[in-house]
This record gives sequence, structure tokens and C-alpha cells, in this order.
Amino acid sequence: MKFSLNIDHVATLRNARGESQPEPITAALLAEQAGVDGIVVHLREDRRHINERDVRLLRELISTKLDLEMAATKEIIQIACDVGPELATIVPEKRKELTTEGGINVLDQIELLKDTTNRLQDANIEVSFFIEPDIHQIDASAEIGADFIEIHTGVFANAESEEERFDELERIRGAVNHARKLGLGVNAGHGLNYQNIKIFRELEGIDEVSIGQAVIAQAVFVGLKEAVQEMMRLIGS
Ligand code: PXP
Repeated sequence: MKFSLNIDHVATLRNARGESQPEPITAALLAEQAGVDGIVVHLREDRRHINERDVRLLRELISTKLDLEMAATKEIIQIACDVGPELATIVPEKRKELTTEGGINVLDQIELLKDTTNRLQDANIEVSFFIEPDIHQIDASAEIGADFIEIHTGVFANAESEEERFDELERIRGAVNHARKLGLGVNAGHGLNYQNIKIFRELEGIDEVSIGQAVIAQAVFVGLKEAVQEMMRLIGS
């Protein structure tokens, strides 16, 4: 299982006072030195954390892999095609949410997602859909021609009992197996942390986990390199 670090909240901290520090690009380069497999950022419509300059600097300077989380809107698709991340992960986006609240509903927007996927793939960008671990969503993603799905792990992460957590893990296991049979790559993320990753890492068939908040929070206390390497030890990557 590979590990990509989401650095959105380095930009959140920078933007809190309208200052220029800390720079997300510095975090990305330090994380790469610590051994991450890729860098993830979400360029939101309201630019609440990552901005266009960050994305362009990352494209220029990182040497691993750039995963751009994005809504399927005209403006952001154009920026993605221009910048050329290795992977574009399509997420739903609501202005009022604190963070992404769940997967996209592929079945509701087949034509829009087909068009978005074609445009991104024509620009040599692989495409991933952030979805719930649901067979119908997976089938529709494969039909449209996505390269990857990213399974939303928020329900697993926020489970209020061991039983609920176990049930969701089994649902994710079934989804991973189904997606692999259809030839899709499988990533996962949202709410994964230093505790729940110990159970999650036992799942087979997941290419990569995308983790942000927990690692950036830990970095405040122990430094980014130590926080990243602690997570890498737990993932076993
Ligand atoms: N994957 C996706 C699609 C996300 O939107 C997020 C949150 O930005 C993450 C992974 C990482 O979630 P977290 O910050 O909770 O680790």
C-alpha cells in the first residue's frame, strides 16, 4: 500500500493570517525526502487553502506524483489540463462543507463525468472518482472509463462502535475486490489516522491511501518528517 500525503492544511495555516508561511511546497519537498509516494492537494472553487500558484509550483518542483483533487467544473478542468498532474481525483464540492463529506454520485452525472474524464485523459492525466464503497458506483465508474476509484473511508473512520467499523471494513473489502475485477486501480482515503490505519492496512488490493489531517496535525508536535515516517511505519510502506 502506497502513501500519498494531502498537504491542504499547510495552506490552511498559511492562509489563516494572510501570510506567506508555511509554504505548501516546502511541506511537499520535506515529505518527499521523508519517503512519501505522492502529494495530494484539493484546489477548491473558493480557494480556501490551496491556490493556483501552489499547484503550479508543486507541478514544477515535486519529483513523486501529483494528485489533484477537484470538482468537475469548467474552470478547474481547464486548470488541471494546463498544469498536468499525474492523477485527477474527482470529488464533490459544497461551499459550506468543512471538508469533503462523501463520494460523488457517478450514476447521477454520467454525461458530465464522461466528458470530464475524456478531457483529462486526452491531456494525459489519469482519472480517479472518489466514491462510496458501492457496487453500482463502481460499475458506473468502470463504464465511464475511470482509471482509478478512491474509496471514501469516512464511514469507517467515524464508526461509533467496533461492530459498525467491522461492517464498513467488510463493505470496503467487497468494493475493492469488485473494482479490481473490473480492472480499476483502487485508492482510499478520508479520516484515516494513526489508530485506524492499523486495521485498515490489512485490506488487500488497495494501491494507495491518501491521508492529510492526521499527519499534518501530528507534524505540529513532532515535525513533518517524523509524522510522515511514523505513518509510513504503520502502513508498512
Ligand atoms: N481523499 C479525499 C478525496 C479527500 O477529499 C480528503 C480530504 O481532503 C482526503 C482523502 C484526506 O482526508 P483526511 O484529511 O481526513 O486524511
